[in-house]
Amino acid sequence: MTLFATKPIATLRAEAEATGAHALVRALGPLNLVTLGIGAVIGAGIFVITGQVAALYAGPAVPLSMIVVGVACAFAGLCYAEMASAVPVAGSAYTYAYATMGEFAAWIIGWDLVLEYAAGAATVGVGWSAHFVSLLGLFNVRIPASLTAPPTQWCTAAQAAAHVAGCAHPALNLTGAVINLPAVLIVALMSAVLVIGIRESARVNSVIVILKVAIVLLVVLVSLSHIDRANWTPFIPPNTGEWGTYGWSGVLRGAGLVFFAYIGFDTVSTAAQESKNPQRDMPIGILGSLAVCTLLYVVVSAVLVGVVPYGDLNIAAPMAYAMERIGAPWWIRVAIDVGAVLGIGSVAPPTSPRSTPALRSAWPPGSCRCSCSGPGSTSARCWRLCWCAAGCGSSGPSVPTCTAPSARPGFRSSQSWASCAASA
Ligand code: ALA
Repeated sequence: MTLFATKPIATLRAEAEATGAHALVRALGPLNLVTLGIGAVIGAGIFVITGQVAALYAGPAVPLSMIVVGVACAFAGLCYAEMASAVPVAGSAYTYAYATMGEFAAWIIGWDLVLEYAAGAATVGVGWSAHFVSLLGLFNVRIPASLTAPPTQWCTAAQAAAHVAGCAHPALNLTGAVINLPAVLIVALMSAVLVIGIRESARVNSVIVILKVAIVLLVVLVSLSHIDRANWTPFIPPNTGEWGTYGWSGVLRGAGLVFFAYIGFDTVSTAAQESKNPQRDMPIGILGSLAVCTLLYVVVSAVLVGVVPYGDLNIAAPMAYAMERIGAPWWIRVAIDVGAVLGIGSVAPPTSPRSTPALRSAWPPGSCRCSCSGPGSTSARCWRLCWCAAGCGSSGPSVPTCTAPSARPGFRSSQSWASCAASA
């Protein structure tokens, strides 16, 4: 069955090592990989979801949820590190599935990744929007509330009973808002950046990472003297009778949600093709970034629920709210919002460009067509639209045999890979 044809690791490596115009350069060391991981992990999750998990599910025990997820991610990270060392090319889980389970499984996983990125982009967009609105507010610029919130909101019975804003009754509620315009705009902007093909340099990534870590530490430092130990008691509020609303089940339910804050540690594996020594550096990059993020998350979430009673944290920008509540100086609040806006906005770019070149071949198996020769097509467009040619290898003219039936079962092309690549 061609659907279950695997791509040998030797072929994947050979394609990766090929030196075409678009080949990836092996330039990243262990520190670069750790910062790449931190840059991809820290984003909307810690700035937004921590507060919601504390308010609705885990209470002050949200650091426990963080630890549970950190341990789970460490095991997943070990798997990623092993696979990234054995198959040190771009594409992450998609490529690993292609090498081990075949084209069909890889196709499903490829589209799972696209789904993950789409859902993640929506959440990141909402988190970015909240901090952008908060930042404008510090300069007395107001955007109408109807343009900064979703038109609908899903509420649990507990949220409706607690009269959480926008939760008149359980299930779907209309909020009265029309659209979350800043969220839509940032997602559109980031999509444009990715389509144009701009990639962040290691230096820019390092600056953003330093910024994000600095903000998290700033929040911790500014908040330390405002912690009220009473807010930590009871550390695990008694369960309300509903599974997942406080109690240990709430800690676990919270862990399921804060997992979002950890998404991105796998990004390091997508950079295997750019790593100088993947066998040694992939485990360091993945587990190192995970360790740093777990530590930061545990500390900052403990501080957040120590400063603000957890019941007040079901809001879109809990860290900004905590700063306002303790009366932090204006410049600190501006710094945190600016950092959040820049930091959250930078979550998407490191991940997708490294995965999408390999994912181009995740178009339905056997159904690809190459249309590079159409009127008005340019060489850049050729590269981006020629998904099926990528199925023959993402490394360029060194794989000139796309049109040969043996190159890829079911391949039907109106143009050879060689001519497509030559014009690119
Ligand atoms: N972990 C990323 C974030 O929190 C997706 O934004």
